[in-house]
Amino acid sequence: MTSLNLRYMRTSDIAQVVSIDQQSFNPPWTARSYDYEIRESQYSHMIVLEQVENSSRLPVWQRWFGTRPTAVHRILAYGGLWNIVDEAHISTIATHPSYRGRGLGEVVLAAMVAKALHYQAAYVVLEVRVSNVTAQNLYHKYGFRIVDTKKGYYHNNGEDAYDMRLEFKDASVVRAFHERHSALRQRIPHSDHYTLAERPRN
Ligand SMILES: CC(C)(COP(=O)(O)OP(=O)(O)OC[C@H]1O[C@@H](n2cnc3c(N)ncnc32)[C@H](O)[C@@H]1OP(=O)(O)O)[C@@H](O)C(=O)NCCC(=O)NCCS
Repeated sequence: MTSLNLRYMRTSDIAQVVSIDQQSFNPPWTARSYDYEIRESQYSHMIVLEQVENSSRLPVWQRWFGTRPTAVHRILAYGGLWNIVDEAHISTIATHPSYRGRGLGEVVLAAMVAKALHYQAAYVVLEVRVSNVTAQNLYHKYGFRIVDTKKGYYHNNGEDAYDMRLEFKDASVVRAFHERHSALRQRIPHSDHYTLAERPRN
């Protein structure tokens, strides 16, 4: 049996996350950056969406001899949220290339927005490459709006970034988010050990 689970990122996830990151970003973050975000940064709330495959799906010989753990944890998507006073800043988000287009990026984004609401942030902000229409579509779907363009923001090629924001001051925005989130949870059932959880001590 397989299930989907949202939870805080752990240092033991870094190898899988870095592998997805290297296939998703140029330049990618380093393992050291993830370690810092998980263990040291006081503002950071890193999230993973994992697929948990329980032992009943493992080959019989593996279950009999116990040569493998009883469940396989595969990271399908991840993200990062910095919560600084009343600002929530999405620092990163990616889905494993083999699992894109199935709503999983949406699950991670919605959980980070829900976390921002939980911390009573006034808005969520992020930067996105002007060429990254896929990600912009995802953010537009959740009510983000382009509020600024940062010229030459990306050092590797001098590309501009859109500054996108989701403001919570209008109650109808929050209501629309909750409705969309609730529909998503029905479409893609998953357990959530992130949104309302305290950041674990490492
Ligand atoms: C952006 C990213 C996280 C989206 O993840 P995903 O799991 O594939 O996205 P989802 O399946 O949840 O799609 C959610 C929405 O995103 C948009 N979207 C997803 N794939 C798209 C595509 N190929 N073309 C256009 N829009 C797309 C759509 O609005 C979609 O909603 P819909 O299904 O109702 O049309 C993923 O493409 C990724 O990891 N990209 C590389 C890293 C990256 O660019 N991160 C963003 C940095 S700012």
